[in-house]
Amino acid sequence: MHDIVQEYYGQTLQHSGDLKTSACCDISQVPEWLKPLLARIHPEVLSRYYGCGLVCPPLLEGCRVLDLGCGSGRDVYALAQLVGPTGEVIGIDMTEEQLAVAQRHHQFHRDAFGYDNVRFLHGYIERLDELGLDAGSFDVIVSNCVVNLSPDKDAVLRGVHRLLKNGGEFYFSDVYADRRVPAAVRNDPVLYGECLGGALYWNDFLRLAQAHGFADPRLTDDRPLAITDPALAARTGNVRFFSATYRLFKLDGLESACEDYGQAVIYRGSIPGHAHRFVLDKHHDIETGRVFPVCGNTWRMLHDTRFAAHFDFIGDFSRHYGLFAGCGGALPFDEGAGNAGAACC
Ligand SMILES: C[S@@+](CC[C@H](N)C(=O)[O-])C[C@H]1O[C@@H](n2cnc3c(N)ncnc32)[C@H](O)[C@@H]1O
Repeated sequence: MHDIVQEYYGQTLQHSGDLKTSACCDISQVPEWLKPLLARIHPEVLSRYYGCGLVCPPLLEGCRVLDLGCGSGRDVYALAQLVGPTGEVIGIDMTEEQLAVAQRHHQFHRDAFGYDNVRFLHGYIERLDELGLDAGSFDVIVSNCVVNLSPDKDAVLRGVHRLLKNGGEFYFSDVYADRRVPAAVRNDPVLYGECLGGALYWNDFLRLAQAHGFADPRLTDDRPLAITDPALAARTGNVRFFSATYRLFKLDGLESACEDYGQAVIYRGSIPGHAHRFVLDKHHDIETGRVFPVCGNTWRMLHDTRFAAHFDFIGDFSRHYGLFAGCGGALPFDEGAGNAGAACC
């Protein structure tokens, strides 16, 4: 599968418009705050963007960030501006042609930003231990429409868990299916290259993440994908695909379900760009100043991470009140027309 994917992203596709699904977002859907950052990125880098979501969580200044499958580097160069001169962003990709575009414009971005905090490495995301990166050395690992392309997703999650600091997070956008993808779809080289064939059934993904120590995956955004090429759409049958962004915190003590210890948090409104609310995930939109009841896992995601200084914390783990209300198990994605009203990249 590596060969098929390398050929697809190295030679078959020449720019974003060559893709046959709506996985890669329309520039009009880019959030306002991201536009000035993208405006500083070289046009050739932007033209070879093949991501399916937004991989820029809040509060990145000074962070060390790794981008798995960075391609031509759009997200690396956007993140470089968010982490600033005291942070660092490293991009990894296995396709020479993609990395060549990213490297070619390294100096351009150094001049545009006024500092150099970016590195690119040629390598495989299943073999992160071969790249000379220290265990526990990254605050945030991101990835944009890449994990689905990996033939060994187990190895990817194992490597990510190893490289993250305790309290760090894997914040990544990818493609998921509403069921296990049939072999005919999985073995179709174009469907695979288009990020559909290798997509995980969402519930298998949750189990995989939990098996690798990410006990409570949190969904932040999702949208249904439209397969814009009719011939390709016919080959996928009734399988429905979604682009979704998950955040997986590496934290000791996370439980497999949301348990209620009677705890609450108060957001101080102090995270840059998030004065009025902090959105942890799709189910936690925390208004500034309001006492916001949380389960034990959410409490830890705020208390034991880089977000701690921006919250006041009420309660502890001394008394358990049972399961936290509203912990669901149904299809987590919003259904509906492709691209409808979703936050995007
Ligand atoms: C859909 S593109 C996304 C690129 C980039 N993240 C972006 O948003 O433009 C997938 C990228 O992942 C890379 N890739 C796929 N599988 C990989 C693997 N196993 N190891 C390293 N890179 C991989 C491909 O070479 C390609 O550049």
